[in-house]
Amino acid sequence: MQVGPLEIRRQGGALIITIQREERRNSLDLATLQAFGEVFRHHLGADDRAVVVTGSGTRAFCAGADLKERKEMSLEQVRAQLLRYRTDLGWLSTCPVPTVAAINGAALGGGLELALLCDLRAAAPEATFALPETSLGIIPAAGGTQYLPRVVGAAKARELILLGTRIDAAEALRIGLVHRVAPAAPVLEDTLRWIAPITEGAPLAQRAALRSLRAAERLDLDAGLEFELACYETCLNSEDRLEALAAFAEKRPAVFKGR
Ligand code: COA
Repeated sequence: MQVGPLEIRRQGGALIITIQREERRNSLDLATLQAFGEVFRHHLGADDRAVVVTGSGTRAFCAGADLKERKEMSLEQVRAQLLRYRTDLGWLSTCPVPTVAAINGAALGGGLELALLCDLRAAAPEATFALPETSLGIIPAAGGTQYLPRVVGAAKARELILLGTRIDAAEALRIGLVHRVAPAAPVLEDTLRWIAPITEGAPLAQRAALRSLRAAERLDLDAGLEFELACYETCLNSEDRLEALAAFAEKRPAVFKGR
């Protein structure tokens, strides 16, 4: 199904969002940002176990802001567009189920920031990465200066943002910017196989673990440990926990129902 410039479909428990603007290297214009917001508001289903974001073609995952559109925008429009990154894309970092970037090509500027909003990142071997904003007279302000240091550390983030260095998939893996480089194309199929423990796993446990992991980034250790216990509690009363114990005793795979 088509939502503006985005195609959405479901496969193996995942909601797959594909940016279909190959002619502009899947860059983010107003319509694309709005469509992301619409997917969250109207199309994310209770049964979706993960959200996977990818780009069409092999050249780019997302080339960042649509610079042709940007050139025609007023200052007010640029400010409003930046806020849209928070409202229409930001849900990828707070979504109840894990979000995954299947990076099929260049992830530049806002495209890398889009990937940074996701919980997991897998890349095609030919993918490249950069936050080149300072070379364009701006800064990465769709979360780049905040998320990148949290993912790769303060020192590496300074280098990547101040120098605008472009790195390849092997280097991105080495510094922890991506979790995995797909052994071969297509990265989307490889990613879906990789995240099978999520899409086929116990949904309540997945959600609880995700809430607790995200809390670790904003709480101090004492508060975090309390929060972790509260998250565990949501699993304790579940049928899935009892099913896992029964399956272990009976030496068979567990069948989880999300209850
Ligand atoms: N916004 C709008 N159009 C873009 C774009 C962007 N961010 N990135 C690429 N395009 C357009 C090009 O202008 C070109 O259009 P044209 O056919 O009308 O000339 C088309 O996409 C193909 O681009 P091209 O550079 O020929 O493709 P490529 O496959 O060789 O390289 C990239 C792909 C993404 C590596 C390269 O286009 C690039 O570096 N883009 C700029 C990225 C950038 O600086 N983003 C902004 C960060 S703030």
